[in-house]
Amino acid sequence: MLLALESSCDETSVAVIHDGCVLANVVSSQIKLHAEYGGVVPELATREHLRNLLPVANAALKGADIQPAQLDAVAATIGPGLPQALMIGARAAQAMAFALRKPFFGIHHHEAHLYSPWIVYDKDTHHAPRTTLRADFASFQPNVSLIVSGGHTMLVFVEAELKHHLLGSTVDDAAGECFDKSAKLMGLPYPGGPELDALAEQGDPRAFDFPRPMIRDLHDDFSFSGLKTSVRYFLRDQPFILDDPDCVRDLCASVRASIVDVLVTKTVRAAKRLGVKCVTASGGVTCNRALRKQLVEACAQNNLTLRLADKSLCTDNAAMVGILAERKLRHGVAPTSLDEEVKPSWPLAQRQSAGSRGGTRQDFECR
Ligand code: KG4
Ligand code: ZN
Repeated sequence: MLLALESSCDETSVAVIHDGCVLANVVSSQIKLHAEYGGVVPELATREHLRNLLPVANAALKGADIQPAQLDAVAATIGPGLPQALMIGARAAQAMAFALRKPFFGIHHHEAHLYSPWIVYDKDTHHAPRTTLRADFASFQPNVSLIVSGGHTMLVFVEAELKHHLLGSTVDDAAGECFDKSAKLMGLPYPGGPELDALAEQGDPRAFDFPRPMIRDLHDDFSFSGLKTSVRYFLRDQPFILDDPDCVRDLCASVRASIVDVLVTKTVRAAKRLGVKCVTASGGVTCNRALRKQLVEACAQNNLTLRLADKSLCTDNAAMVGILAERKLRHGVAPTSLDEEVKPSWPLAQRQSAGSRGGTRQDFECR
């Protein structure tokens, strides 16, 4: 029985995991709090985590119907993320592990995202009558994983469980940031990504032609700040577009198509180059309807198995943190020190050297 805490950005979340099953996963989002500032305010986020952590933890324990004394381990995200926000969850988990005399696992937030697509709904489980979410590592296979959120865009080669290599990441803005900033330029409320996505559903993606940055480059890096600037200049030159709801829908669809084309093309290309048969995707932007649809189509065309994180687990949550901690426990990974500091800028993995970036699977196997 494992308790997991997540507080790296603007979601306070606590989950209870037992034998691969998610017995509880309570998430308290701060979106409304930060909306009036148009972005996450670290100081406010920290105070809100402090206020919410214990009620959320109590709700998770109650939801799972367990007592703290039944816990075998405690886990928390210790990086990367907002320093003070991370500290709230990490210190609480370390204190709890100390009090209970149980091991503590400090988890890398993006590593947790990598495994969220393997947490699936299983309505027939006898194991956990209170929940329907469980980890499905029996069908695990090497994969190329796309992590797309408001703060990060990265492609990772997950060679085996707990063994991964960073293929590429954004050199400037994240894909979610591009969605949010483009939406802001259109006057849509924060966070604009979901709003833009909803409007795009009724628009024509071919109405306006926006760049697809780095889509032809053979490396696995991304760049989205230029696309955001294109939207800015487009609206500066044609501000009247915003007066016509049909044009706004077309604009949303066109911007969405640019971002999604780049993400899908580069993900599938990396999978084919590495010879893996599976693609996974997670992070808040994986809620995007066009991204999900285009990944389904592209993977089917290229004979790739696709695992998309369930929409409830795309955004930040403690279930993925707990499931990863449990895998670490099972694989015999040593617990983390109770004195371990949080790591706000913790890299997921060493980037491959320049010569091997964009390389084949053999490049990784040689290492
Ligand atoms: O993973 P997440 O909850 O938080 C981090 O940034 O770590 O992701 C939030 C991001 C925001 O940029 C939000 O606009 C974006 O995910 N997002 C979407 C959609 N739903 C959430 N972007 C495009 N389409 C969506 N449907
Ligand atoms: Zn995240």
